[in-house]
Amino acid sequence: MDLDLLVLGSGVAGLSAAVRAAAVEPRLRVGVLTKAELSQSVTRWAQGGVAAVLGGDEDSTDLHLADTLAAGAGLCDAEAVRVLVDEGPLRVNELMALGAVFDRDHEGVLLKAREGGHSVPRVVHAGGAATGAEIERALVEAVRATAAVVLEGWFALDLIVEERRCRGVVAIDPAGARHDVRASQVLMATGGAGQLFAVTTNPEEATGDGVAMALRADVAVADVEFIQFHPTALHHPAMPRPLLSEALRGHGALLRDANGDRFVDEMQPRDVVSRAMTARMLEQEVDHLWLDATGLDRFDQRFPTIAATLAGADLDPAVEWLPIAPAAHYLVGGILTDLDGASALPGLWACGEVACTGVHGANRLASNSLLEGMVFAARVVESIASGKSSPEPSGALGSFLRAPASRRVLSLRGSPPTGALPPDGGSLPVGSPPYGPPGDVVKAREVLQRAMTSGAGVLRSASSLADTASVLASLSSAVHPEVRNLVVVGLAVVLAASGREESRGAHNRTDFPAVDDARFCRRLVIA
Ligand code: SIN
Repeated sequence: MDLDLLVLGSGVAGLSAAVRAAAVEPRLRVGVLTKAELSQSVTRWAQGGVAAVLGGDEDSTDLHLADTLAAGAGLCDAEAVRVLVDEGPLRVNELMALGAVFDRDHEGVLLKAREGGHSVPRVVHAGGAATGAEIERALVEAVRATAAVVLEGWFALDLIVEERRCRGVVAIDPAGARHDVRASQVLMATGGAGQLFAVTTNPEEATGDGVAMALRADVAVADVEFIQFHPTALHHPAMPRPLLSEALRGHGALLRDANGDRFVDEMQPRDVVSRAMTARMLEQEVDHLWLDATGLDRFDQRFPTIAATLAGADLDPAVEWLPIAPAAHYLVGGILTDLDGASALPGLWACGEVACTGVHGANRLASNSLLEGMVFAARVVESIASGKSSPEPSGALGSFLRAPASRRVLSLRGSPPTGALPPDGGSLPVGSPPYGPPGDVVKAREVLQRAMTSGAGVLRSASSLADTASVLASLSSAVHPEVRNLVVVGLAVVLAASGREESRGAHNRTDFPAVDDARFCRRLVIA
């Protein structure tokens, strides 16, 4: 199978790229390959909305830029953030033109919410807090109508790299047969890795596949020590953890500790709030705190999907506080790219959560993620259409390429799981022997998640990270494709978190509790 553009993944980033490619250059043969159904992506779970300056009020792109840089704790690439805030409004308008329906008041004016770290209300939303589901619906419809090939239930195992260029992927089809899916350009848009942790807002599919493929092919990856924990996941056995959107705090919901006291400014960025919650939970020896939404008007109308989730858990936000605890939510880093989404490997592009464009720095600002997917997907496609064939020294990749070689990289080389695909590993359906009995695969995932949560979660130290590393090493012979990927990405997180001997943004070291600008105001790259 030979394609012009192969898109891996079916969230907002991948599908926006596929739709745009069909519009910009209808003769391009575009394929979308995804391991589940097209509509089954992490995007579908996104709640709060899309942050963009859509005009008509006191907001400005300069203010959006300043908020994003402040949340990023010194590590954002300012050029990339400028691209994000300037091009974002156009992309949101295009999405609406495609059919995505955003919430408006009775006069048809877009409703905007305020979320943590934003100076003003600028987050547009759909279905109250069902923004991702609406965006995914509109994009899936458009892709089904335009893409040349849609490969659902296919699993991409590894990149095909020939003569220092990405030429496609090795993948297995739903029946378990192995194929080379060849393409002139490959766009990695496979999302994040929340399944590294025992408690996450991410669905089962979020196993870090794209980052793992990149690491195995020695493609530069950066900022993976920054795992964002969402402060207000419902404390409930359901997995993924139901999210209580940040927009609730924007509407006045309050955080309360075990004594019922407030302890942090609810409108601070997520890293600050999650850190304050974790400290308070340790101090009070409790495993959850409370979100008090009893003062919110018309909860059911403004947040119908959250209201339904709470009703299913027998909770009534009008009269009782809601139990909450931080949960792994977003992989801030990923495959390092230039300002057009080109990775260090010619022919390989990345956008969305799998990428490190530099827009998030050490901590992503709320509701900048869907926006990033749309903005950089468009840039990837425009660049491919204009004939760009290799990366340039711009954006986050630029600062890496310009840095002296001695300061550039950490290396995973030599770790068993980063090696080549086992000879039989590509010829079997996911979940079948000899990956081991299904119970063993589940157990391996649980062992990994427990080790990552206790040693590489909200709080880390050199010794906790070393403990996690040895558990990961014990799983290094795993051949189940998703477990194999989780092990590789877990090792990368541990390596980067061990290397960053400071606390910054979403990365908190108990043995190095302060920011150390002199040594660490830079990104750590693994290649
Ligand atoms: C939320 O609604 O709180 C999540 C939105 C995001 O992850 O930016």
